[in-house]
Amino acid sequence: MLKMIDLPYPLTALEPYYSTKTLDLHYHILYKGYIDSTNKIEESLEKARNEGNFENIKCLEKNLSFFGSGAILHELFFANMGPVIPTEPSINLMEQMIKNFGSYEKFKKQFTEASKAIEASGWCLLVWVPKWKKLEILQCEKHQNLTLWGCKPLLVLDMWEHSYYLQYNTRRPAYIDAFWNIVNWNEVNKRFNNL
Ligand SMILES: [Fe+2]
Repeated sequence: MLKMIDLPYPLTALEPYYSTKTLDLHYHILYKGYIDSTNKIEESLEKARNEGNFENIKCLEKNLSFFGSGAILHELFFANMGPVIPTEPSINLMEQMIKNFGSYEKFKKQFTEASKAIEASGWCLLVWVPKWKKLEILQCEKHQNLTLWGCKPLLVLDMWEHSYYLQYNTRRPAYIDAFWNIVNWNEVNKRFNNL
């Protein structure tokens, strides 16, 4: 059984860039929904195996990918944000960014533009691609589409409307600009170091 992770900070900690009300709904309702749904799907899969009845297998595998990816991405998202305490990419990560994007500013610009251009519901991700030994930025549709196999998410931004609409309405660029103030680079650096 999957269990919800604890938020690593109080609900008010990301103000004014990410409102308490938005974080409350996002964590307690939406994220909880992904955990609960993933657990239900796992139970159904176990039942199917035990009964040898796989008539719903296509639906179950599809839902496992959707809800499971949703659970994982939300945990990465909550952890790669934090209170407004200045943090920055480590020297190692910065060197890799310069190698793969040209500069930190170019990385930030590409990530920002990719986030703005996501169609409907999805995520923007900075990932490490082990096969290519390089960083890439991906636009993910829903929670599971448009990936590169084997990539390791380092920094993720939730671009579903539920993540910004209450506070920013349709002003996606303002939400993305605000996000840069609450990125916890210490967490991103840790993910990069642990590859
Ligand atoms: Fe979300």
